[in-house]
Amino acid sequence: KLTINDVQVAGKKVFVRVDFNVPMKDGVITDDTRIRAAIPTIQYLMEQGAVVILGSHFGRPKGDRKPEMTLAPCAKHLAELLGKPVAFTDDCIGEAVEAAIAKLKGGEVILLENLRYHIEEEKNEPNFAKQLASLADVAINDAFGVSHRKAASVVGIADYIPMAAGFLLKKEIEALGAAVYNPEKPVAAIIGGAKVSDKISVISNLLPKVDVMIIGGGMANAFIAAQGCNVGKSLLEEGQKDVATDLVMEARVAGARLLTPIDAVVADAFSNEANTKIVDVENIEDDWMILDIGPKSRELFGDALKPMKTIIWNGPMGVFEMDKFAAGTNAIAKAVAESDGLTIVGGGDSVAAIEKSGLADQVSHISTGGGASLEFLEGKELPGIAALTEA
Ligand code: 3PG
Repeated sequence: KLTINDVQVAGKKVFVRVDFNVPMKDGVITDDTRIRAAIPTIQYLMEQGAVVILGSHFGRPKGDRKPEMTLAPCAKHLAELLGKPVAFTDDCIGEAVEAAIAKLKGGEVILLENLRYHIEEEKNEPNFAKQLASLADVAINDAFGVSHRKAASVVGIADYIPMAAGFLLKKEIEALGAAVYNPEKPVAAIIGGAKVSDKISVISNLLPKVDVMIIGGGMANAFIAAQGCNVGKSLLEEGQKDVATDLVMEARVAGARLLTPIDAVVADAFSNEANTKIVDVENIEDDWMILDIGPKSRELFGDALKPMKTIIWNGPMGVFEMDKFAAGTNAIAKAVAESDGLTIVGGGDSVAAIEKSGLADQVSHISTGGGASLEFLEGKELPGIAALTEA
């Protein structure tokens, strides 16, 4: 597959698909990791004298021009990080965009408005892909985080102009690849988050590849319920209990040690001001809800992780945004950071937790992908990688 070093970019117009879908609150970027991660590619192209045309999605506007989903704050922030101006256009295709690009000299950068303001982006509509392609001579995919989506700017565009992997995409493939293909054993996966339904295929596909599978977060409730325990008012979707029962069987068949919480921090309301207590999972009362794993579970999980040579972590152990329910996630962050094996953390919440713990630089690789990193770790071929032009 083509990579950025294989293509002549000097004096060329280069479309770079980036993933600037960053957490934002009231127009303020709260975590710029994804923007910073794209800088090596952007800077290289600037130094080479390319006209750099950046395209990204933001949120899920479904074809509507939702003003709160504009990429304008990202253009401003990128300009600050680069110490150079970054032009911005209020659309991503059309004559005004072409005119704005025509004004740029080699080494200059423009960010196009949210690609998902056009529904054709997500639909991978050929005509839209062709219009995007017509803006540039060559495309670079540096948007690992969205490479699991068959979108026009990620896949379709490569039907019209060559598409090469950028530095971030390359780095993600190499780092995650090390955990998927011939990882050093024993291997553990820690999967958390709210819903089993979101991650069932991930758990199922990872079970044959791991020695230890740790389940935490809201989805662990299904496993607790499947053991015949009362989960009170805890989050538990219809049918999840059966899914959990099946996964327990699958773990047995695969010979993986499946660990779920043995105790929990329960609360009488979904609030940081709620009354809380610590109980074993057998003793959860009707009016209480599980919002974090308890201390015995933290110890159980931490001990299980100690001998691991490869650890993959995606998803929090509890409602870690509230301090009262952050101890479980923080304990995992610490255990992962302290491991001397290969450690990979993906998914917005786990990455935020590891950043907050101040231990991020002790992790082997922090992925900019949430869903994309999980699909990659499952062994699936991501459409945005498959679509790269053959070298
Ligand atoms: C992400 O945040 O995981 C990526 O930017 C993809 O976004 P999406 O889930 O809306 O496609």
